[in-house]
Amino acid sequence: MIDVSSTLLPRVVHARAFGDGIDCGDDCAGGGVCAIRMTEDLAVEARFTTNDSHTCQPDTAAVNGPLLQGARLIRFERGRSSRSPCRDAGRMGGGGPPQALSGRRRLRHARRRDTLAGFYPEEAEPLDLLAPPEHGGRLRQAAERFGIPLTDWLDLSTGINPRAWPVPALPASLWSRLPETDDGLERAASDYYGASEPLPLAGSQAAIQLIPKLRPPGRVGVPEVGYAEHAHAWRCAGHEVVPLPDGDAAPWLDVGPERLDCVVVINPNNPTGRRWSPETLLDWHARLAARGGWLVVDEAFMDATPESSVMPHAGRPGLILLRSFGKFFGLAGARVGFLFAEAQIRRRVAHGLGPWTLTGPSRWVAARALEDTAWYAQTAARLARDSERLAALLRDQGLTPSGGTSLFQWVETIHAERIYVGLAARGILIRLFAHPKSLRFGLPGEDGEWQRLAKALASLSEQGESTQVQASAAWSAHADSPAPRP
Ligand SMILES: Cc1ncc(COP(=O)(O)O)c(C=O)c1O
Repeated sequence: MIDVSSTLLPRVVHARAFGDGIDCGDDCAGGGVCAIRMTEDLAVEARFTTNDSHTCQPDTAAVNGPLLQGARLIRFERGRSSRSPCRDAGRMGGGGPPQALSGRRRLRHARRRDTLAGFYPEEAEPLDLLAPPEHGGRLRQAAERFGIPLTDWLDLSTGINPRAWPVPALPASLWSRLPETDDGLERAASDYYGASEPLPLAGSQAAIQLIPKLRPPGRVGVPEVGYAEHAHAWRCAGHEVVPLPDGDAAPWLDVGPERLDCVVVINPNNPTGRRWSPETLLDWHARLAARGGWLVVDEAFMDATPESSVMPHAGRPGLILLRSFGKFFGLAGARVGFLFAEAQIRRRVAHGLGPWTLTGPSRWVAARALEDTAWYAQTAARLARDSERLAALLRDQGLTPSGGTSLFQWVETIHAERIYVGLAARGILIRLFAHPKSLRFGLPGEDGEWQRLAKALASLSEQGESTQVQASAAWSAHADSPAPRP
């Protein structure tokens, strides 16, 4: 593999116009098919064909979206064509057929082939599955990449309430004293969530990283499309991660030696918005717990719909519940979350976190916000209205959401990259997903922000910069026909 990580693109270009190609080095025989993958928060893939002088030229038929100014080429993989294999295919480590690989490698190989089906040559090296996932909210990076000042952006790239709980002035002593655990936070959290013994965390992310380390390596079902930190954490802890199609664990629960030891469910899922009924989850939990397995339910986006939570069953052996404070309360910077689990798991997580996991100011703010029942009621109702308003706005632009929660809407479209780039060029940051090609829109806050989003989408539509798969005629008429994914 050649490291081209220092290659920065000079401007927004389509790959077919991408200059003279890239030198693929002396140890390539030439004439092979290579692939370039740019990830970061933007996933763009392009296939290049090497010529005999080792220069990769963009293969226009396979170009899969525009390449962005300042985007970093982070992966350049060489594969073999039937004509002229790269000489170092063996050294790259991905040269053998799946049956020649060990169990774990076979899984990686299969998974990679699944997500990149038909795009890369079969022999190319698997992607680095231990690389940390990308997240929304990286406004500084977007400002630099698109050359738009930070203050001019409308950031819709996260699922965080844009109208946060109003934080009052904090007592000065919070900054000078060590945090104490009997300050009322646990009681406030217990009342708010309706379950005893909450374990405060510096965001539910802290538990997501720790939980996999509490078990010996096993087989863990994780949503194929969902908050990627779960799969990452289990994989880093040595577990075999089985991607579940939008969280459906049912076919995997009791299947002989292939069965799962643990299942992670994100309910409702981020970004798909898929929901699971408490009855289904309790059934899965019972089947896993019967043989010492765990069901982890991440309820980061559950606040506005508490009736769908499995919280009333918190404390059952093998049932681990995670809640995130920052999203509904709009205070993600405070880094607060909670874990609910049986005493033994709770103690082991607490031990892993150590003392003072939350800062004093964060504890103080979270306790008061969780006690503010009037603000909760008003906010839950407003978010339900705003989420529906966002779905309607997107529908009006031919972008019918496939799912959503009270804090975001999710749109699957083959034109995801174009819409992402078109909005970013107008200073609006949303979240782009490569598999499946989709976009997540967070809620605008002020009226002006709603109008700005509607106007930007309408102007994209007029200019034909975007379309949806089953778009209205207006969108389709302007659309470039997309390069089919090979
Ligand atoms: C589904 C889901 N779970 C958990 C988290 C982690 O959130 P936090 O650590 O802020 O509680 C996120 C963050 O975006 C998320 O989307």
